[in-house]
Amino acid sequence: MPGRTRLTFRQDYFGGTAAWLALAALLEDTFGIDVTILDRLGGPDPSSVPFAFFDAAGACIANITAFSLPLVVDGVFVRAAGLQSGAVRPDFRGRGLYRAVMQAALDHCDGEGFEAVVLLTDTPELYRRYGFCPMALHRFVGPMPAQGKAGPVRRLDMASEADVTVLARLLEGRRPVSDRFAPLRQKEMFLFNAALDTELRLDLMEEDNAVIAWRREEDGSFGLVDIVGAHIPRLADILASLRVTPSHVTVHFAPDHLGWEARAVPQTGDLVLMLRAAEDLRPALPFGLPPTAEF
Ligand SMILES: CC(C)(COP(=O)(O)OP(=O)(O)OC[C@H]1O[C@@H](n2cnc3c(N)ncnc32)[C@H](O)[C@@H]1OP(=O)(O)O)[C@@H](O)C(=O)NCCC(=O)NCCS
Repeated sequence: MPGRTRLTFRQDYFGGTAAWLALAALLEDTFGIDVTILDRLGGPDPSSVPFAFFDAAGACIANITAFSLPLVVDGVFVRAAGLQSGAVRPDFRGRGLYRAVMQAALDHCDGEGFEAVVLLTDTPELYRRYGFCPMALHRFVGPMPAQGKAGPVRRLDMASEADVTVLARLLEGRRPVSDRFAPLRQKEMFLFNAALDTELRLDLMEEDNAVIAWRREEDGSFGLVDIVGAHIPRLADILASLRVTPSHVTVHFAPDHLGWEARAVPQTGDLVLMLRAAEDLRPALPFGLPPTAEF
């Protein structure tokens, strides 16, 4: 009987393989996502601090994981934490387990002095009680820019260990893709999302040493998902190098480094970005979040 099961609270348990696999099973059962893919990509974010309840047999019953997610917001560095992997097994829902792990995670974030806490959810109402506010995510749509300069490009393959290493190195030293709102690094989630997304193309612009993550959007436009490099090439040069000539372009982050004017369009879909931070740490202008940075 679930009601009689004794549960043990544990935090910061990623050092133990069995506990990590038990969390992976909870996430597979809840969301149908296999996080053990991370094991071949270098492992989960080392800053992760998970908070969870386990049963006597070692099954993970409830979890939320905090991790360091440094951000740039309106040109200013913000020491932020992200929350991810929030789930409770169905038989154990409705008795405060999620509240308990959330409270432990938020106490940890406050104790560590994080200025902001961010999460992505399709149930924003669940998080208002903890002081989170929804922030609208946008895409940026505009015409194809003219007069780009073409350079050599090499396609990267997430199944190639050498290509993953190239990508991982660039992720370590990347420039935030926007000054309006962007994660400073986010290596592990980028690799994880890129490994799962079969539509995503990764092209290394060799002279700029920047990886362009892109895809064809459903409306036929060129979708610029993310850019990973110490230098952000202009959009015109990106399109010329990729030898694509779309009628219009959709960019998934605020395009302030791209040398291109676009219209901000509120994102449709279930995913909402929730932010728990002082008012002056919220982005003043429309911004987006690259799907490669989702967590
Ligand atoms: C959402 C989920 C984590 C809640 O777990 P739980 O252990 O049942 O939650 P708790 O019993 O601790 O409830 C905490 C509070 O949240 C409320 N709540 C639970 N699910 C909610 C939902 N979907 N929307 C809004 N509020 C919700 C509860 O009513 C409770 O309110 P109270 O404190 O006023 O009594 C669980 O249902 C689950 O794993 N769902 C599937 C995965 C998921 O949606 N994860 C969150 C993704 S970001």
